Amino acid sequence: MAAQKSTESESTRFGLSFKLITMIIAMILVVEVVIYLPSVANFRIRWLDDRVQVAGVAARVIETVPDTMDLTPEMVSNLLQSARAEALVIRKAGRSQLIERSDMPMPVATFAADTRDRDAPALILNALDIIFRGSDRTMRIIGQPADAPDTIVEVLMSEAYLREEMLVYSRNIFWLSLFVAVATAAAIFLFLNRLLVRPIRRMTRNMISFRETPEDAHRIIQPSGRSDEVGMAEKELAMMERDLYSMLRQKQHLADLGLAVAKINHDLRNTLSAAQMLSDQVATLEDPQVQRLAPRLVTTLDRAINFAQSVLDYGRQKSEPPKFLPVDLRALIDESSIDAGLYANQNIGFENNVPDDMIINVDPDQFSRIFVNLMKNAREALENRAAGAEGGIVAILFEETPDAIHIDVQDNGPGLPPRAKENLFVAFEGSGRAGGTGLGLVIAKEISEAHGGQLSLVPTEKGTHFRVKLPVSAAA
Ligand SMILES: Nc1ncnc2c1ncn2[C@@H]1O[C@H](COP(=O)(O)OP(=O)(O)OP(=O)(O)O)[C@@H](O)[C@H]1O
Ligand SMILES: [Mg+2]
Repeated sequence: MAAQKSTESESTRFGLSFKLITMIIAMILVVEVVIYLPSVANFRIRWLDDRVQVAGVAARVIETVPDTMDLTPEMVSNLLQSARAEALVIRKAGRSQLIERSDMPMPVATFAADTRDRDAPALILNALDIIFRGSDRTMRIIGQPADAPDTIVEVLMSEAYLREEMLVYSRNIFWLSLFVAVATAAAIFLFLNRLLVRPIRRMTRNMISFRETPEDAHRIIQPSGRSDEVGMAEKELAMMERDLYSMLRQKQHLADLGLAVAKINHDLRNTLSAAQMLSDQVATLEDPQVQRLAPRLVTTLDRAINFAQSVLDYGRQKSEPPKFLPVDLRALIDESSIDAGLYANQNIGFENNVPDDMIINVDPDQFSRIFVNLMKNAREALENRAAGAEGGIVAILFEETPDAIHIDVQDNGPGLPPRAKENLFVAFEGSGRAGGTGLGLVIAKEISEAHGGQLSLVPTEKGTHFRVKLPVSAAA
């Protein structure tokens, strides 16, 4: 019990709730990374567009100045500062104009960022490049201001401004994502917990408690009345537990009853044995009336004793598991044939085809009862034939195949009567002869199965053919 308890707590250490919440958070984070990539690329391109627009405004301001020579260093500095640029190039109608500070050397651009190129994967790669590889490189932004379609501007500036803003943007997105993931996971978790986890836990607890004492009707689960799959599972579980509970009670009653029957039966058999002795003595009396009735009295008593004995055997046999020993099969079958009364009848021949030295692992007492029952049935069937029928034969056949051992009992009698065929292997139902209990075949089948094998009827044209099939592992 202790070991089972510990497996239970081990398996619930990472229970459904834990797995659910980690899976939900992981899934939301993956989704958010997928959304983040295009949005940061979009942020970058909008930022660059803004630079191009500002540069466009600067270009128009310069156009109003009749001669570039008139631009004072102060004006240039203001213009560049408003665009946060180091230098500007304005190209219009084949002419290009460079606006740079005179007090600083002209910087050299490390890479170009062309805003006219809107290829999505490239945008994402460029954005990642600035975030992960960027520092303070100089970039050349190229673009077309929206209100001056015939002008191309180039802005030379440090990427540091862009990178700084992209990092802030990414950080904000990260915190927002984390918040959304946790909030969504919590909401989904609460919902699923109510919907699934709690009812499943309740059922699991109930199963464990019911398994401990299935005789206690209070432990049968009360279905919550939900109309979905969980409700159905609860209803089915309740039904199963109720069935189990009543089956268990029934079995207990039957066991008590069986014990009582066995006791009565035992006494009955002894009383009948006493009556049998008396009837044997009565049969020796010379009174013709007695002579006529005595044989019937004797057979009736014989049957009654037989019946009592078979029922006792049946009850006893069920409870004991086989004790396996190496056994000489041929000898075991020979002994069984004697117990089955085959030698007592001169008109019935017996053939034992089991090879010498065939040793198998079985419970000799139980296993021989299979063959005593089968051969006794064969003898009884052969004896009950009309006078003048051909000589009766009971044969034992043996075959060892790669996956089983077959031991067959065959006779050339009349075959199974319909009643026996219809109730084959049903206790008390399958007897086709007067005074039969209908237990012989049932017992033989149960013993075969307890040995890991099977007993079956092999269809034949004539006579009866039963097969005991044992697993190959039975061969010693
Ligand atoms: N070899 C056989 N040939 C013909 N009928 C058979 C043969 N074996 C069994 N039967 C039929 O099957 C019936 C059931 O057999 P089973 O051994 O189970 O019960 P039983 O012989 O009637 O009673 P008991 O419990 O005393 O053996 C028999 O009554 C008989 O009619
Ligand atoms: Mg029988």
